[in-house]
Amino acid sequence: MNFQNDFPVYKTYPNLAYLDSAASSQKPSCVIDAMTQMYQSQYANVHRGLYQLSEQATIAYEAARQTVAKFLGALEDQLVFTPGTTASINLVAQAFLLPRLKAGDEILVSRMEHHANIVPWYRLCEQTGAKLIVIECDELGQLDLQAYAKALESHRVKMVALVHVSNVLGTINPIASCISLAKARGVPILVDGAQATAHMPVNVAQLGVDFYVTSAHKMYGPTGIGALYIAKDHFEDMMVYQTGGNMILEVDFDKVTYMSGPPKFEAGTPHIVGAIGFAKACDYLSSIGWNQIMAHEQALLAYLNHALASFSDIKVVGKAASKIGVVSFVMDRVHPHDIASILDHHQVCIRAGHHCAMPLVRYFGYPALSRISLGLNNVQKDIDQLITALDQVRKIFA
Ligand code: ALA
Repeated sequence: MNFQNDFPVYKTYPNLAYLDSAASSQKPSCVIDAMTQMYQSQYANVHRGLYQLSEQATIAYEAARQTVAKFLGALEDQLVFTPGTTASINLVAQAFLLPRLKAGDEILVSRMEHHANIVPWYRLCEQTGAKLIVIECDELGQLDLQAYAKALESHRVKMVALVHVSNVLGTINPIASCISLAKARGVPILVDGAQATAHMPVNVAQLGVDFYVTSAHKMYGPTGIGALYIAKDHFEDMMVYQTGGNMILEVDFDKVTYMSGPPKFEAGTPHIVGAIGFAKACDYLSSIGWNQIMAHEQALLAYLNHALASFSDIKVVGKAASKIGVVSFVMDRVHPHDIASILDHHQVCIRAGHHCAMPLVRYFGYPALSRISLGLNNVQKDIDQLITALDQVRKIFA
């Protein structure tokens, strides 16, 4: 299986080994073309214009919502377009949890969270006197489910916020079990799916989750747009968040009434063309199908793990049984930033640093890690190129 021809970046850089999809994925032509076409011949603002072009743009924007919702197993009136995962989590924290939280209450997060799923909750704790309770993971990078179940026994827990797939370790958390346990205790749960939705099927209705968030740019779609799924019964009891045009029914200086459903949380002109690109990215993934996507990425992951095993000076961090194609590692005597810069000279792109997950990287005892992340655009040759480049790193620092 080779999907490289779908990605025009390789026309500009035929020898590129792009191994940083977890930071942001490359874009296939179909997504770029759909967005260009929208700007060229179908563009106008949505939900406002009484002329045909605007009405058509509104239809295209709402059709995009339907496509993304269906892709995630949601209904379109449960799917809010936001600027991305970070914005979605901030929205849920402030519009849903803040009014329910008081001093001494608890919010459960895991050791594996990205900063985007720590800091908005931490901020709530600062605002209210509530506290974060951290569920640890083991040395393989697997969530401690027993500790999670135990923590849920506290009647003070008012929210769970868990990552579906770790952006550092690649660990796929047993999210269905985590959701069931939270629901059994009547605790609302938000799942950060930023690293999941390009790599495996997700059905929010089947999961029974309260909130599920993801970003288009990790799924071969554009930057600046993401999806926030809200279970239907929560829409009405959430406060408004950002306010302005588009989200109102009626405005006067002494009284404002708000829209209900997704528009309530979409103040201002939305990322219209971004939504078109997001829907096209979902169509792109659906057209390939999960069996092929997962087989392709798991085959590459096995090839990568095998190749890295021949380096006695490389230690992989995160060896969970269930993983996507994300591999973080350290190399004896070489700082991850040096590795990344030397690799760049060989046209190999990886990420190095704390990966927006400082508490996790510190837990493993390192200031920084090097991270390889795989996507549909990758082929075995990329890994061969990486291995040759890593060999050079080793020689330079020998
Ligand atoms: N969250 C992105 C990453 O893991 C930026 O690299």
